[in-house]
Amino acid sequence: METAAPEASCQPDPENLRQGRQNAFLFAGAAGLAGLMFGLDTGVIAGALKFMGVDLHADDRAQEWIVSSLMLGAAGGSLLAIPVSKYRGRRGAMFYAGLLFLLGTALCSFAPSIAVMIAGRVFLGIGVGFASFSAPLYIAEITEKSRRGKMISIYQLVITGGMLLALLSDSLLSYGGHWRWMLGILAVPTVFFILATTQVPYSPRWLAMQGRRHEAHGVLQKVRGSRQRATEELNRIEQNLKKTRGSGLALLKSSPGFRKTFILGILLQMFQQLAGINILLYYAPHILEHLHFSAQAAVWCTTLLGLANMAATGVAILLIDRWGRRPLLLTSTLIATISLTLFGLLLYMHASGSFASIAVVTLLVIFTLGFATGEGPIPWTMCTEIQPLQGRGLAIACSTFANWITNWLISNVFLSVMSVIGDFGIFWTLACFNAVFFLIGYFLVPETKGCSLEDIEQNVKANLPLRDIGQPRPSTDARPQQTMPLGMQKG
Ligand code: BGC
Repeated sequence: METAAPEASCQPDPENLRQGRQNAFLFAGAAGLAGLMFGLDTGVIAGALKFMGVDLHADDRAQEWIVSSLMLGAAGGSLLAIPVSKYRGRRGAMFYAGLLFLLGTALCSFAPSIAVMIAGRVFLGIGVGFASFSAPLYIAEITEKSRRGKMISIYQLVITGGMLLALLSDSLLSYGGHWRWMLGILAVPTVFFILATTQVPYSPRWLAMQGRRHEAHGVLQKVRGSRQRATEELNRIEQNLKKTRGSGLALLKSSPGFRKTFILGILLQMFQQLAGINILLYYAPHILEHLHFSAQAAVWCTTLLGLANMAATGVAILLIDRWGRRPLLLTSTLIATISLTLFGLLLYMHASGSFASIAVVTLLVIFTLGFATGEGPIPWTMCTEIQPLQGRGLAIACSTFANWITNWLISNVFLSVMSVIGDFGIFWTLACFNAVFFLIGYFLVPETKGCSLEDIEQNVKANLPLRDIGQPRPSTDARPQQTMPLGMQKG
């Protein structure tokens, strides 16, 4: 046991506390670069695809594989990240993610053939899987409880920022069709990311899990700025670790309530992808050129979608703890359903001319704004909030896997299905998925705003209907409520 004296009797030095917060912010910020890499690597393909398609002689089917191979890698990577981050630490998993990003970037930017390009995208994907599992987990474990939800939501914002930057750089490089530069330039932030992962300390929770108590205490003291607080937090971490000894699978067998939240997590993540956002983010230039936009106009419009995505994610962060999750999700699914239905109608009517062009872009922007205020952030937030501690790792890993696999499926078949059922057919199908997402939200999604994670856990274990698991327990009214989501770790 660490001894808390001599500080125990006096208030911690405010200057030390400030320094501790600054350290935590710095380390979380360094891990947040993983989100930037995630956004850059997934976003860059939209602008590069058309040009590489010509150079590498990639037809629609090959282009689908180029886009979707990253998701397949990420699905595998998010499962593989569980043992890697368990045995090598979250910091280790982020470091390996950086190396994979570098390898993938080199293969993609020098790719002489479609096969090498696909291999490079798979490596990038495994890196994304590692990063998307370990970075939010690291941030959650290094940040103070009161700031954790916000820091992890900001991580989601950084992802959209990475996507936007990739789209912007694509737009600028599109004039010469320099697709190898579009991909290769990502080596620069990747090197910064790798360096950053070597500078941050291991997460205190992971060190405690390894029995490296002394080091865990040292890191906690650095990020809390107080020896006493570090000791208290380490004690809490160790108590918590004792509670989570049983396996997630055992809980899945024994608790019908957990089975329901487990399935809800998977449904939310699947429908987030079926909503169609990535079809737009990856294929928008392709769709717009199909509608007679020039190549440059198409790439710039896609950048506009990236901007709308990031701005609306910012709005969602402001509203999520005020309005609550349900109103945001329901409004968002409605906006997405209506905008995609109208978009399909425009395509069905073969609308043309400048009015139709403006309408096309407006509807796509409205869809993106709708997605980013609810369908985007809520599944990540909710998947962490509704799962009981013992099953959280398993449930999040499975729902994240479902997210990437659905992402892979939908981006893999998009162009082929569009050639069979027509462009309007595919957007009406997506509109239907969004309508089903609305129904899932209406009938199954609980309101978890203002309810402590402990209360949610008790409700789940008491097998309350899903809609009611976010209700505070009557006997715990006096307890302080935790209003922020624990986090949005992918996996
Ligand atoms: C989704 C990603 C998507 C991104 C767009 C995330 O919540 O999981 O698949 O590309 O939102 O902002």
